[in-house]
Amino acid sequence: MLRNSLAPAALIALAAAGCTNTSAQSTQRSPAARPTITVQSDHPGASVSPAMWGAFFEDINFGGDGGLYAELVKNRAFEFPDPLMGWIKVSPSLAKGDIEVRTDDPYRPSQTHYVRITSQGTAPIGISNEGYRGMGLKAGDAYDFSAQIRNVDGNSKVTVQLVGNDGTTLASAQLTGLSNTWQKITATLHPNATDANARLVLFLNGPGTVDFDFVSLFPEDTWKHRPGGLRKDMVQALADLHPGFLRFPGGCIVEGKDLAHRYQWKNTIGPIDDRKTLVDRWNYEFSWRPTPDYYQSFGLGFFEYFQLCEDIHAQPLPIINCGMACQFNSGELCPPDDLAPYIQDALDLIEFANGPATSTWGAKRAAMGHPEPFNPPLRMMGIGNEQWGPQYLERLAAFTKAIKDKHPEITLVSDSGPSPDDDRFDYLWPKLQQFNAGGHGVDIVDQHCYANPIWFLSNANRFDNYDPKGPKVFFGEYAAQSDAICSTKNQNNLDCALAEAAYMTGMERDAAVVRMASYAPLFSNTEAWQWRPDLIWVDSLHTVPSVNYYVQQLFCENRGDVVLPTSNNSHVLDFLPTGGIALATSNATAEFKDLHVTNNGRTLFAPAFSSNKDFTAGPTWNAADATYRQSDPTISTTASAGDASWGSDYTLSLKLRRTSDTGAITLTVADDETHAIGARTQWTLGAPIGGPTVADPTKPEFILLSHFAEQDQLLAHQPGTLDTNRWYDAQITVHGDRIDCYLDGKLIQSAQMPHHRIPALFSSATRDNATGDIILKVVNPADHPLTSDIHLAGSPHLVAAKIITLTGNPNAEDSMSAPAAILPTTASTRLTLPNFSYTFKPCSLTILRLGTAP
Ligand code: AHR
Repeated sequence: MLRNSLAPAALIALAAAGCTNTSAQSTQRSPAARPTITVQSDHPGASVSPAMWGAFFEDINFGGDGGLYAELVKNRAFEFPDPLMGWIKVSPSLAKGDIEVRTDDPYRPSQTHYVRITSQGTAPIGISNEGYRGMGLKAGDAYDFSAQIRNVDGNSKVTVQLVGNDGTTLASAQLTGLSNTWQKITATLHPNATDANARLVLFLNGPGTVDFDFVSLFPEDTWKHRPGGLRKDMVQALADLHPGFLRFPGGCIVEGKDLAHRYQWKNTIGPIDDRKTLVDRWNYEFSWRPTPDYYQSFGLGFFEYFQLCEDIHAQPLPIINCGMACQFNSGELCPPDDLAPYIQDALDLIEFANGPATSTWGAKRAAMGHPEPFNPPLRMMGIGNEQWGPQYLERLAAFTKAIKDKHPEITLVSDSGPSPDDDRFDYLWPKLQQFNAGGHGVDIVDQHCYANPIWFLSNANRFDNYDPKGPKVFFGEYAAQSDAICSTKNQNNLDCALAEAAYMTGMERDAAVVRMASYAPLFSNTEAWQWRPDLIWVDSLHTVPSVNYYVQQLFCENRGDVVLPTSNNSHVLDFLPTGGIALATSNATAEFKDLHVTNNGRTLFAPAFSSNKDFTAGPTWNAADATYRQSDPTISTTASAGDASWGSDYTLSLKLRRTSDTGAITLTVADDETHAIGARTQWTLGAPIGGPTVADPTKPEFILLSHFAEQDQLLAHQPGTLDTNRWYDAQITVHGDRIDCYLDGKLIQSAQMPHHRIPALFSSATRDNATGDIILKVVNPADHPLTSDIHLAGSPHLVAAKIITLTGNPNAEDSMSAPAAILPTTASTRLTLPNFSYTFKPCSLTILRLGTAP
């Protein structure tokens, strides 16, 4: 039964989560029964925000420099901490001369380093730039070279060349017009071949000394042919998405690892060569994906972001730093009394975007060539990114009061932490409901979610019970993770995309609450990514939208203006927690004996502890004399046993004692053993092992009951102590989704374990006011077709129907090597309303556009 109930990839994850035939229970209808989708087309509900489906751009994955910003020269101003990063010296063995980095008498105070090349002979000597992991050049296209050059001494000839991966010269020009002061020298180059991995070379011929700074190469064929502009194919892909809004410039880079490295928009406007380079936090954030050559030149700055929004008709949603550095890093705080400049930056940004050219900041916009306010105007602003805790509320209040008092027209987006399901969220959410800063409440709250596909499938009804009169929701970053959050193995496959689509039907049904949503992040360079999955993949020459992109695009293009309340009665599968057990210690030594796992009196597991074979564990675990010992007090380590065949109804009992003075012992049950979901429930005695830690930190020891899955959850906590060298009788009973934990026969904690309930079909509907079309979206995540009756209100009539389908192998991705592996297809038919049936393809998103116009 189950084998046919979900797409294979999701199914594997579910099976791994213990969702085997024995534990999954169909709770509503027989899976074989034919579902009905009911659309109340005569009772339109909430309006769908015109900015419902948008995009989130962060300067991550070489998405800005090395991506959207079309500059091909990396470290063009020699301002990276290693001023020659990206450059190599090119000096044949015969060349006599020198290449040095200097700071005296620089081209501009903001660009303190430059390169001096001295040639003492006739052999060429120079420097070469590798671009952002290779320069992509197209045969015959025009490329604008420019550099600040100062001829210090002699009459060297200066040549610029584009050189292919194999060393072939693709284009060459001798530079003219040099003088003994800094001058911008330009040349146009036309490579005679296409090369994805070309280089730029600058060299001197003949004796002389020449200084170089701000060495730049841009394709002429940028977006809208703007000199020094954005990469055309990338903007085109973004424009083709038709996003209702664009959130920028992050993400964690807004916060910075500390406040000195926060994003300050005022440093990103004005003349390009006055914008100072800053290290991008994604340069070093993930030790497993370091990009030591990732810096922000700010060639893509706030003027360019607003201009981009104007070009693609997306509402701008800038995120500003709220006086808090990234709480995953230093968490540095600006004291409340010193927030004024931060708040002023926010107020000035409104003037920069919306103010007249006569205003202080409007004048700066005008000086950059945009005298009129940007259109669409700035109407939304995010106060911080993924902040949490009381510190955030304090700062949010200061920003809200100052901005709303002056600009009531601006919708403020507040944060609720990095996850929609953890203790940080649980702390903030109720407080945001009651938030009041000088009479101003919270407008809209940003929720982020990176979780496995199962989370999205089982939480598609998340907003059904939200109060439509409360703060609105912006689901500002989400993406299903095929492996795990931050895993380098995450894929942009159809399985994930359909889980996101299913979740989006839920957001659409609850459009009265959810006013905006965006997938994240937008762009990723195949050669230099830090984070995956991502919406659009690029290399130096190509752009490949992911399957997830097509889901987003289909929702953007088929948004509709008003919700038509929709329900479907497809069967719901209830996946109870199941799996083996584990013993763990954290900074503790411990002993375990008399361990039994039983099910209704039947023994499932009773290790004798005479050999190490009963558990899977590291070398510090040893069984001897009927006792199992963990002997290293300095590590966190786990020993596990059993599997999903133990089901969801068993009792673990054992004796345990901590033999060190401090540290924790954790007992795990319903351990699904996989990292894909990693669902397990842990009972921790003593200080906590990882995970949520909201228990009273002033108590040296406490007891935690937590559930770890795609989102970690603390189920219960209480103060308590674990005496050293005392044997305890511990027992955990697992019964369905209920867990009871006993010490020495006394019930200490009980909880319900979260588990998944997944309907067979996901559906939502809207009406397009201009055409009258009814737009029905249906996701069938199963690996088999599912026929459904569809019932709309109204009298019988024949309509034209457009059917858009995204379907295929759930594990398939659109990639550089197979960019069209999965694409939406469109068909037309005629259907008789109000009742018809439709067979939804396996693993599919289907959009039925029912034309109601005569
Ligand atoms: O986009 C990747 C990161 O994920 C963002 O910077 C942050 O907001 C989220 O944690």
